[in-house]
Amino acid sequence: MSSVTEIRSMAGSEPITMLTAYDAPTARFVEDAGVDIILVGDSIGNVVLGHETTLPVSVDSMAEHTAAVSRATSDVLVVADMPFLSVGVDKSESIRNCGRMLEEAGADAVKLECGPHTVELTERLVDLGIPVMAHLGLTPQRVKQLGGFTRQGTTNEAAAEIEALASAHEEAGAFALVLEHVPENLGAHLTETLSIPTIGIGAGRDCDGQVLVFHDVVGLSERTPPFAKPFGDVASELDDALSSYVGAVKDGTFPEAQHSHTESDLDELY
Ligand code: KIV
Repeated sequence: MSSVTEIRSMAGSEPITMLTAYDAPTARFVEDAGVDIILVGDSIGNVVLGHETTLPVSVDSMAEHTAAVSRATSDVLVVADMPFLSVGVDKSESIRNCGRMLEEAGADAVKLECGPHTVELTERLVDLGIPVMAHLGLTPQRVKQLGGFTRQGTTNEAAAEIEALASAHEEAGAFALVLEHVPENLGAHLTETLSIPTIGIGAGRDCDGQVLVFHDVVGLSERTPPFAKPFGDVASELDDALSSYVGAVKDGTFPEAQHSHTESDLDELY
């Protein structure tokens, strides 16, 4: 089983791969591909559940999807994303919500969208044995405050703020840092100065690892962010399979004899 210690030790030696998965069959494919970390992201809100943002995603929903991913995998590190307002409102509630992801859902760690309010919490979680992955830069749970899913850390002040928070979370015991939608030179600088691995999404080529959303990678997203790249075209495979099924039922070529069975006991009646 991969551990947070192994992931930590990959900083500067081997590129770390992380992908989202939200259900058992997808998680199996992702683990079989050799990915180092599966993130059960709250991006499930917009990617799978049809919301505009991640804000409506609940702790119950994250626990259920994390449990599905944990059940389907054996070796890969599973990280549960903590959804909007699940941490930061009340200290003990925050700890319990994070604890649920390990205790009930089988996650190996939690990811927090960070700010000044998560420094002390990270320290407490780590003390309690709950590994924390920090997330800075574009933190989509702040979309209303930011006015959109915009690039972050683009001024000296904003970059310095991200750097200060990154160091504070490293000191508090976070084992890795996700950096989203920040300039490449900021990604490179943080990768150089921090001892924990940086895992970038739109943070340039120099991070210790990369994370993308599953649907963007396999070509299943309607809209792909500028920093993502489709590595396949699963959507057209799905179109072909589904329209073949509809066509076969409509023209009577499915089901065939091999897809049916007869009971001899029914012969007399029918
Ligand atoms: O929710 C998510 O999928 C994420 C990644 C994009 C980093 O936070």
